[in-house]
Amino acid sequence: MTSSAMPRRYLMCRPTHFAVTYRINPWMDPAAPYDNALAVSQWENLRQTFLDLGHTVELIDPLPGLPDMVFAANGGTVVDGRVLGVQFRDAERADEAPAYASWFRDRGFEVHEPKHTNEGEGDILLAGDVLLAGTGFRTAHASHAETQEVLRRPVITLQLVDPAYYHLDTALCVLDETNIAYLPQAFSPGSQAVLQQLFPHAIIATPQDAAVLGLNAVSDGRTVVLPVQATDLTASLTKAGYQTIGVDLSELRKAGGGPKCCTLEVRS
Ligand code: ARG
Repeated sequence: MTSSAMPRRYLMCRPTHFAVTYRINPWMDPAAPYDNALAVSQWENLRQTFLDLGHTVELIDPLPGLPDMVFAANGGTVVDGRVLGVQFRDAERADEAPAYASWFRDRGFEVHEPKHTNEGEGDILLAGDVLLAGTGFRTAHASHAETQEVLRRPVITLQLVDPAYYHLDTALCVLDETNIAYLPQAFSPGSQAVLQQLFPHAIIATPQDAAVLGLNAVSDGRTVVLPVQATDLTASLTKAGYQTIGVDLSELRKAGGGPKCCTLEVRS
């Protein structure tokens, strides 16, 4: 690991209106019970964890009728102060895009309006100098070229193949400038080979880790905040020299989200 722990600037959205009312990924069951108050307290704990680590957490106002807006990672991709806005695949989430774009514009960022479907940091992750970009379920392959043009970093296309791991950030976590953790079987054979070539020392997650959304973790280069249920991954990270903090986001997992989904990094 590199010890590049730096104070980060995160954007989050309180799950005031969180609910599971539609099904756009296999984790979501609108018929199953969920507890909004528990979702809020679990989210508050995540926010406090970031604050305790010395990070800045900014908030966007949650809007009624947008139960998935808590998943701020899907609100944009920000590199060097450049913002690539989002365009959701599903109509249920479409109105989140202008809300996030306005948040950035109100703070002086220029927002590039995307021409193709892309769900922000759910599928586009900065790893050192390159952007890893998922496709297969949500973000369109055509958006990868647009991402490279707007954010000015080389984009590596990765093909997701398992519907349970529909966003890149459910199957892969950037740990620091040079390393990642991932679930190989969530990727096509060609993409697995590319990941092996780029990250020969990657931490390989187990199916049990992935099944509790363990890879949906947030790393500042030194400390990895991940679902407490991901015990194999926690052990592997510790062995590799990272600090870990386990958080319980069981209610948000009912919508298919974990710590990373709730967190958008603002790189100015
Ligand atoms: N219910 C949301 C959806 O399916 C969950 C989004 C999770 N976000 C993420 N970055 N993986 O769109």
